[in-house]
Amino acid sequence: MTITVLSIASEAVPLIKTGGLADVVGALPQAVAQHDVAMTTLLPGYRAVMAGLTKSRAVHTWPQLLGEPARLISGTIGGHPLLVVDAPTLFLRDGGPYGDATGRDWADNGLRFAAFARAAADIASGAVRGHAFDIAHAHDWQAGLTGAFLRYAPVGKAPPSVMTIHNMAFQGHFPRALFATLGLPDAAWSIDGVEYHGGVGFLKAGLEAAGAITTVSPTYAREIRTPEFGMGLDGLIRARQGQVHGIVNGIDTHDWDPATDPHLPAMFSARTLGRRALNRAALGAEFGLEPGHGPLFVVISRLTWQKGMDVLLDVIDHLVASGARLAVLGSGDKALEAGFAAAAVRHPGKIGVRIGYDEALSHRMQGGGDAILVPSRFEPCGLTQLYGLAYGCVPVVARTGGLADTVIDANLAARNAGVATGVQFNAVTPDALSEAIDRTVALHRQPPVWQAIQRAGMKADFSWGRSGKAYADLYASLLEVR
Ligand code: ADP
Ligand code: GLC
Repeated sequence: MTITVLSIASEAVPLIKTGGLADVVGALPQAVAQHDVAMTTLLPGYRAVMAGLTKSRAVHTWPQLLGEPARLISGTIGGHPLLVVDAPTLFLRDGGPYGDATGRDWADNGLRFAAFARAAADIASGAVRGHAFDIAHAHDWQAGLTGAFLRYAPVGKAPPSVMTIHNMAFQGHFPRALFATLGLPDAAWSIDGVEYHGGVGFLKAGLEAAGAITTVSPTYAREIRTPEFGMGLDGLIRARQGQVHGIVNGIDTHDWDPATDPHLPAMFSARTLGRRALNRAALGAEFGLEPGHGPLFVVISRLTWQKGMDVLLDVIDHLVASGARLAVLGSGDKALEAGFAAAAVRHPGKIGVRIGYDEALSHRMQGGGDAILVPSRFEPCGLTQLYGLAYGCVPVVARTGGLADTVIDANLAARNAGVATGVQFNAVTPDALSEAIDRTVALHRQPPVWQAIQRAGMKADFSWGRSGKAYADLYASLLEVR
């Protein structure tokens, strides 16, 4: 029997992306399709999403969706069914999905994503003829209230919900005043409902209501039981431990295959690693770097505290002194952006920086860089180290979350066994990062050792195969419980 799932999220490639969430939500329908799951994705009708719709038609109207006019549009995304909540007063704006062009959050984000979740709950509980779902699968806080609406105020029969945590650091916490606009019964205002420290907690509400909770790696699933990583929700996670599953993200092996990647000056495979030299030279030139023998490190990242970018800035002079070069692509905190720009001025020819977002350039960096640095303080899964593995761009990562689960450190034993795929370090401190950089430089000096690490990473399987099945099995288990 085919299981039908409504996947509810604020981003999905190729229509709208600010981070890894979009890659994962965009890939899931195909990943579960092989396992007899028919997934429909639900997105907010941002300007970019509306502009990207093809063969769309309106299938439902809400005169009042939490007070705002809205329609439901049906279309497709990556060949799979898509539904879009077209509520122009909430979503049709210039700027990003969560804030204006200067990066400031929209003041009405609480209402925007509450309305989105209300729409999701309506659809999942049968409000729209011809659209029935066995499971409602909500991603991150923006979809978090879906479970609460299904639990306390469904329009029909409520299906079980799955709540996926892509990042515990973003919880969607809003003032109590929002509660009155939600149309939920008073019973929902409770410690096991939507109430969270005197306000409305979107992610918290979703976690309380869900039949199953997932996060995006086994290590992160364990880490969020602790106060350091649980960020206030660790108690809830411990209480619901039996329902918490860590399912590691896969990558889209069609978009991310160095043998067929149209963004690369020279395509290559594990057998033709030599061709990477062309990409490396082109990348160095693109970033204004001098040719050099040491490793060319790359960073493709949000420039934030989570990603340990302040620590990288602390050791950047050491990196240059060790004979390495660095190319950075990213945007985020203004102080960190300024810090990297200043480092590039201080080390002309050794450090190159692009502030911004550039998908094609990110491919060229993975295809031409020697090693990708990911010094995250926490990392639920992380995708750039997976792309690095697939492209022979050796990941140098902090041992946390999905980084711990997906990279095998090149210690002597792992090297001898031929399984090493990267470099890991423990604490995100300047000393530990410097040491990891030194180890990487030393490994890179031994071409046979380095190439063995590259090849082992390229051989590792991070396609969606296993994880797609894990999600499908989880959906099935929720239906059996019923
Ligand atoms: P997070 O979602 O926490 O930012 P992930 O590693 O899961 O981290 O996903 C980040 C995604 O965004 C990857 O696909 C990465 O390649 C991409 N990315 C991040 N910054 C940039 C950038 N400046 N330009 C292009 N792609 C970027
Ligand atoms: C979040 C996490 C990242 C993860 C991504 C997709 O943005 O920060 O680690 O890979 O979601 O699950």
